[in-house]
Amino acid sequence: MTVALATFSGLPGGNADVRELTAALAALGVEAAAVSWDDPSADWDAFDLVVVRSTWDYTARLGEFLAWADRVPRLLNPAGTLRWNTDKRYLRDLDEAGVPVVPTRWDPEDVPADWPEYVIKPSVSAGSRDTARWRAGEEDAARAHLRALRAQGRTVMVQPYLSAIDAAGETALLFCDREFSHAARKAPILKAGAGLLDGPHGGEITAARATPEQLAVARKVLDAVPGDLLYARVDLVPGPDGTPVLLELELTEPALFLEHAPGSAGRFARAIAARIS
Ligand SMILES: Nc1ncnc2c1ncn2[C@@H]1O[C@H](COP(=O)(O)OP(=O)(O)O)[C@@H](O)[C@H]1O
Ligand SMILES: [Mg+2]
Repeated sequence: MTVALATFSGLPGGNADVRELTAALAALGVEAAAVSWDDPSADWDAFDLVVVRSTWDYTARLGEFLAWADRVPRLLNPAGTLRWNTDKRYLRDLDEAGVPVVPTRWDPEDVPADWPEYVIKPSVSAGSRDTARWRAGEEDAARAHLRALRAQGRTVMVQPYLSAIDAAGETALLFCDREFSHAARKAPILKAGAGLLDGPHGGEITAARATPEQLAVARKVLDAVPGDLLYARVDLVPGPDGTPVLLELELTEPALFLEHAPGSAGRFARAIAARIS
Protein backbone atom coordinates (compact mmCIF):
# COMPACT_ATOMS: atom_id res chain seq x y z
CA MET A 1 0.00 0.00 0.00
CA THR A 2 1.53 3.28 -1.07
CA VAL A 3 0.09 6.74 -0.76
CA ALA A 4 1.37 9.76 -2.67
CA LEU A 5 1.41 13.03 -0.78
CA ALA A 6 1.29 15.59 -3.57
CA THR A 7 3.60 18.55 -3.17
CA PHE A 8 5.31 20.95 -5.60
CA SER A 9 8.77 21.21 -7.08
CA GLY A 10 9.70 24.13 -4.81
CA LEU A 11 9.26 21.84 -1.79
CA PRO A 12 9.98 18.33 -3.11
CA GLY A 13 9.94 16.68 0.31
CA GLY A 14 6.70 18.37 1.30
CA ASN A 15 5.97 20.57 4.31
CA ALA A 16 5.92 19.74 8.03
CA ASP A 17 2.51 18.04 7.65
CA VAL A 18 3.96 15.69 5.03
CA ARG A 19 6.71 14.66 7.42
CA GLU A 20 4.21 14.15 10.27
CA LEU A 21 1.83 12.17 8.04
CA THR A 22 4.60 10.03 6.58
CA ALA A 23 5.71 8.98 10.07
CA ALA A 24 2.14 8.34 11.26
CA LEU A 25 1.35 6.29 8.14
CA ALA A 26 4.55 4.26 8.56
CA ALA A 27 3.40 3.34 12.06
CA LEU A 28 0.28 1.86 10.41
CA GLY A 29 2.33 -0.03 7.82
CA VAL A 30 1.45 2.35 5.00
CA GLU A 31 4.24 3.71 2.84
CA ALA A 32 3.99 7.35 1.80
CA ALA A 33 5.95 9.21 -0.86
CA ALA A 34 6.09 12.96 -1.43
CA VAL A 35 5.65 13.54 -5.19
CA SER A 36 5.50 16.86 -7.02
CA TRP A 37 2.14 17.17 -8.76
CA ASP A 38 3.77 18.22 -12.04
CA ASP A 39 6.53 15.58 -12.00
CA PRO A 40 6.37 14.15 -15.54
CA SER A 41 7.85 10.85 -14.37
CA ALA A 42 5.22 10.24 -11.67
CA ASP A 43 2.99 7.20 -12.24
CA TRP A 44 -0.18 8.24 -10.44
CA ASP A 45 -1.94 4.97 -11.30
CA ALA A 46 0.61 3.13 -9.18
CA PHE A 47 -0.63 4.69 -5.93
CA ASP A 48 -3.50 3.40 -3.84
CA LEU A 49 -4.36 7.00 -3.03
CA VAL A 50 -3.07 10.46 -3.88
CA VAL A 51 -3.55 13.06 -1.17
CA VAL A 52 -3.11 16.70 -2.15
CA ARG A 53 -0.86 18.43 0.37
CA SER A 54 1.67 21.18 -0.32
CA THR A 55 0.91 21.94 -4.01
CA TRP A 56 1.52 25.61 -3.35
CA ASP A 57 2.33 26.79 -6.86
CA TYR A 58 -1.13 25.95 -8.21
CA THR A 59 -2.43 29.51 -7.99
CA ALA A 60 -0.26 30.63 -10.91
CA ARG A 61 -1.07 27.46 -12.90
CA LEU A 62 -4.67 26.79 -12.01
CA GLY A 63 -5.83 25.30 -15.32
CA GLU A 64 -2.89 22.92 -15.43
CA PHE A 65 -3.39 21.94 -11.80
CA LEU A 66 -7.09 21.20 -12.24
CA ALA A 67 -6.41 19.20 -15.42
CA TRP A 68 -3.91 17.14 -13.41
CA ALA A 69 -6.48 16.62 -10.66
CA ASP A 70 -9.00 15.38 -13.24
CA ARG A 71 -6.47 12.84 -14.52
CA VAL A 72 -5.42 11.33 -11.18
CA PRO A 73 -7.53 8.25 -10.52
CA ARG A 74 -7.79 8.16 -6.71
CA LEU A 75 -7.41 11.72 -5.49
CA LEU A 76 -8.41 13.41 -2.25
CA ASN A 77 -9.87 15.83 -1.81
CA PRO A 78 -11.74 15.01 -5.05
CA ALA A 79 -11.03 16.95 -8.25
CA GLY A 80 -14.51 18.52 -8.32
CA THR A 81 -14.01 19.83 -4.78
CA LEU A 82 -10.65 21.30 -5.77
CA ARG A 83 -12.18 22.95 -8.84
CA TRP A 84 -14.78 24.69 -6.65
CA ASN A 85 -12.46 25.49 -3.77
CA THR A 86 -9.48 26.99 -5.62
CA ASP A 87 -11.42 30.18 -6.37
CA LYS A 88 -12.77 32.16 -3.41
CA ARG A 89 -15.95 32.82 -5.35
CA TYR A 90 -17.10 29.71 -3.44
CA LEU A 91 -17.73 32.19 -0.59
CA ARG A 92 -20.77 33.40 -2.53
CA ASP A 93 -22.22 29.87 -2.58
CA LEU A 94 -21.65 29.54 1.15
CA ASP A 95 -23.19 32.97 1.78
CA GLU A 96 -26.27 31.82 -0.16
CA ALA A 97 -26.33 28.66 1.95
CA GLY A 98 -26.64 30.81 5.07
CA VAL A 99 -23.04 30.68 6.28
CA PRO A 100 -21.78 33.92 7.91
CA VAL A 101 -19.10 35.01 5.46
CA VAL A 102 -16.72 37.99 5.58
CA PRO A 103 -18.56 40.92 3.89
CA THR A 104 -17.23 41.09 0.34
CA ARG A 105 -17.65 43.39 -2.65
CA TRP A 106 -17.03 41.39 -5.81
CA ASP A 107 -15.16 43.02 -8.64
CA PRO A 108 -16.00 46.65 -7.85
CA GLU A 109 -15.02 49.37 -10.30
CA ASP A 110 -13.28 51.41 -7.63
CA VAL A 111 -12.01 51.34 -4.05
CA PRO A 112 -14.60 51.88 -1.29
CA ALA A 113 -15.14 55.46 -0.15
CA ASP A 114 -17.20 54.36 2.87
CA TRP A 115 -14.80 51.97 4.64
CA PRO A 116 -11.96 53.37 6.75
CA GLU A 117 -9.81 50.30 6.18
CA TYR A 118 -10.17 47.46 3.72
CA VAL A 119 -8.46 44.50 2.11
CA ILE A 120 -8.07 43.99 -1.63
CA LYS A 121 -7.24 40.49 -2.87
CA PRO A 122 -7.72 38.30 -5.94
CA SER A 123 -10.17 35.40 -5.77
CA VAL A 124 -7.45 32.90 -6.72
CA SER A 125 -4.57 33.20 -4.29
CA ALA A 126 -2.80 31.56 -1.38
CA GLY A 127 -0.28 32.67 1.19
CA SER A 128 -1.62 36.26 1.09
CA ARG A 129 -0.15 36.80 -2.38
CA ASP A 130 -1.36 39.97 -4.14
CA THR A 131 -3.31 40.81 -0.98
CA ALA A 132 -3.07 44.15 0.83
CA ARG A 133 -4.67 46.21 3.56
CA TRP A 134 -5.39 49.85 2.73
CA ARG A 135 -6.49 52.85 4.82
CA ALA A 136 -8.26 56.10 3.99
CA GLY A 137 -5.61 58.35 2.44
CA GLU A 138 -4.02 55.48 0.52
CA GLU A 139 -6.56 55.57 -2.33
CA ASP A 140 -4.02 56.05 -5.11
CA ALA A 141 -2.03 52.96 -4.19
CA ALA A 142 -5.19 50.95 -3.44
CA ARG A 143 -6.70 51.93 -6.79
CA ALA A 144 -3.51 50.92 -8.60
CA HIS A 145 -3.64 47.54 -6.83
CA LEU A 146 -7.29 46.99 -7.76
CA ARG A 147 -6.73 48.02 -11.38
CA ALA A 148 -3.64 45.84 -11.73
CA LEU A 149 -5.62 42.78 -10.62
CA ARG A 150 -8.49 43.65 -12.95
CA ALA A 151 -6.07 44.18 -15.85
CA GLN A 152 -4.78 40.64 -15.24
CA GLY A 153 -8.36 39.42 -15.69
CA ARG A 154 -8.65 38.33 -12.08
CA THR A 155 -11.76 38.50 -9.93
CA VAL A 156 -11.17 41.15 -7.26
CA MET A 157 -12.47 40.90 -3.72
CA VAL A 158 -12.75 43.96 -1.47
CA GLN A 159 -13.53 43.40 2.20
CA PRO A 160 -13.58 45.57 5.31
CA TYR A 161 -10.42 44.97 7.33
CA LEU A 162 -11.71 42.84 10.21
CA SER A 163 -9.76 44.60 12.94
CA ALA A 164 -10.66 42.06 15.64
CA ILE A 165 -8.05 39.86 13.97
CA ASP A 166 -5.35 42.17 15.44
CA ALA A 167 -6.01 40.86 18.94
CA ALA A 168 -7.84 37.58 18.37
CA GLY A 169 -5.97 36.35 15.31
CA GLU A 170 -7.54 33.93 12.86
CA THR A 171 -8.77 30.58 14.15
CA ALA A 172 -8.25 27.57 11.92
CA LEU A 173 -10.52 24.60 12.67
CA LEU A 174 -9.18 21.35 11.24
CA PHE A 175 -11.49 18.52 10.27
CA CYS A 176 -10.63 14.95 9.35
CA ASP A 177 -13.39 13.03 7.56
CA ARG A 178 -15.74 15.84 8.64
CA GLU A 179 -14.94 15.20 12.30
CA PHE A 180 -13.37 18.05 14.26
CA SER A 181 -9.71 17.29 14.95
CA HIS A 182 -8.02 20.37 16.39
CA ALA A 183 -7.69 24.13 16.18
CA ALA A 184 -4.83 26.56 15.69
CA ARG A 185 -4.40 30.31 15.88
CA LYS A 186 -2.80 32.17 13.03
CA ALA A 187 -1.42 35.60 13.88
CA PRO A 188 -2.63 38.54 11.75
CA ILE A 189 -0.60 38.99 8.55
CA LEU A 190 -1.54 42.35 7.04
CA LYS A 191 0.15 45.31 8.72
CA ALA A 192 -1.28 48.82 8.45
CA GLY A 193 0.63 50.98 5.99
CA ALA A 194 2.59 48.03 4.62
CA GLY A 195 1.01 48.09 1.16
CA LEU A 196 1.47 45.08 -1.08
CA LEU A 197 3.66 42.38 0.45
CA ASP A 198 6.14 40.52 -1.66
CA GLY A 199 6.24 36.75 -1.65
CA PRO A 200 4.10 34.32 0.32
CA HIS A 201 3.31 35.13 3.94
CA GLY A 202 1.88 32.99 6.68
CA GLY A 203 1.09 34.18 10.18
CA GLU A 204 2.76 32.58 13.17
CA ILE A 205 0.86 29.46 14.27
CA THR A 206 0.09 28.50 17.86
CA ALA A 207 -2.18 25.84 19.31
CA ALA A 208 -5.71 27.05 20.10
CA ARG A 209 -9.04 25.85 21.41
CA ALA A 210 -12.19 26.26 19.34
CA THR A 211 -15.20 27.85 21.02
CA PRO A 212 -18.65 26.22 20.72
CA GLU A 213 -19.67 29.22 18.59
CA GLN A 214 -16.75 28.68 16.20
CA LEU A 215 -17.50 24.97 16.01
CA ALA A 216 -21.14 25.70 15.15
CA VAL A 217 -20.15 28.02 12.28
CA ALA A 218 -17.61 25.50 10.99
CA ARG A 219 -20.24 22.75 11.10
CA LYS A 220 -22.57 24.94 9.06
CA VAL A 221 -19.81 25.50 6.51
CA LEU A 222 -19.11 21.79 6.07
CA ASP A 223 -22.80 20.92 5.95
CA ALA A 224 -23.05 23.19 2.91
CA VAL A 225 -20.33 21.26 1.03
CA PRO A 226 -21.13 17.87 -0.53
CA GLY A 227 -18.61 15.14 -1.22
CA ASP A 228 -15.83 13.12 0.32
CA LEU A 229 -13.69 15.44 2.47
CA LEU A 230 -10.61 13.74 3.86
CA TYR A 231 -9.45 17.08 5.24
CA ALA A 232 -10.92 20.53 5.66
CA ARG A 233 -9.75 23.71 7.29
CA VAL A 234 -12.24 26.40 8.26
CA ASP A 235 -10.59 29.80 8.91
CA LEU A 236 -12.68 32.09 11.09
CA VAL A 237 -12.23 35.69 12.25
CA PRO A 238 -14.50 37.70 14.55
CA GLY A 239 -16.73 39.72 12.21
CA PRO A 240 -17.99 43.30 12.54
CA ASP A 241 -20.37 42.29 15.36
CA GLY A 242 -17.84 40.05 17.11
CA THR A 243 -19.36 36.73 16.04
CA PRO A 244 -17.22 34.44 13.87
CA VAL A 245 -17.32 34.82 10.12
CA LEU A 246 -15.73 32.62 7.47
CA LEU A 247 -12.59 34.13 5.94
CA GLU A 248 -11.54 31.06 4.00
CA LEU A 249 -12.53 27.40 3.58
CA GLU A 250 -9.45 25.45 2.61
CA LEU A 251 -10.25 22.12 0.95
CA THR A 252 -7.36 22.14 -1.53
CA GLU A 253 -3.94 22.21 0.14
CA PRO A 254 -4.45 23.49 3.68
CA ALA A 255 -1.57 23.42 6.09
CA LEU A 256 -3.04 21.17 8.77
CA PHE A 257 -0.71 22.33 11.56
CA LEU A 258 -0.30 18.71 12.68
CA GLU A 259 2.89 19.47 14.60
CA HIS A 260 0.90 21.81 16.88
CA ALA A 261 -1.66 19.18 17.89
CA PRO A 262 -0.39 15.93 19.42
CA GLY A 263 -2.32 12.95 18.08
CA SER A 264 -3.69 14.75 15.05
CA ALA A 265 -1.29 13.16 12.54
CA GLY A 266 -2.45 9.74 13.72
CA ARG A 267 -6.09 10.69 13.08
CA PHE A 268 -5.40 11.76 9.50
CA ALA A 269 -3.17 8.72 8.92
CA ARG A 270 -5.93 6.36 10.12
CA ALA A 271 -8.43 8.10 7.83
CA ILE A 272 -6.04 7.58 4.90
CA ALA A 273 -5.31 3.96 5.81
CA ALA A 274 -9.04 3.24 6.09
CA ARG A 275 -9.55 4.36 2.47
CA ILE A 276 -7.06 1.89 1.07
CA SER A 277 -7.38 -1.17 3.27
N1 LIG B 1 -10.98 41.05 5.48
C1 LIG B 1 -9.86 40.82 6.15
N2 LIG B 1 -9.66 41.38 7.38
C2 LIG B 1 -8.51 41.15 8.08
N3 LIG B 1 -7.49 40.39 7.61
C3 LIG B 1 -7.65 39.82 6.40
C4 LIG B 1 -8.82 39.98 5.63
N4 LIG B 1 -8.66 39.28 4.48
C5 LIG B 1 -7.45 38.70 4.54
N5 LIG B 1 -6.83 39.02 5.69
C6 LIG B 1 -5.48 38.60 6.11
O1 LIG B 1 -4.79 38.14 4.96
C7 LIG B 1 -4.47 36.75 5.06
C8 LIG B 1 -4.69 36.06 3.72
O2 LIG B 1 -6.04 36.17 3.29
P1 LIG B 1 -6.93 34.92 2.98
O3 LIG B 1 -8.29 35.42 2.62
O4 LIG B 1 -6.85 33.93 4.09
O5 LIG B 1 -6.29 34.33 1.65
P2 LIG B 1 -5.11 33.26 1.39
O6 LIG B 1 -4.75 32.63 2.72
O7 LIG B 1 -5.72 32.27 0.46
O8 LIG B 1 -4.01 34.05 0.79
C9 LIG B 1 -5.35 36.22 6.19
O9 LIG B 1 -4.72 35.13 6.83
C10 LIG B 1 -5.51 37.44 7.09
O10 LIG B 1 -4.40 37.57 7.98
MG1 LIG C 1 -5.79 32.14 4.37
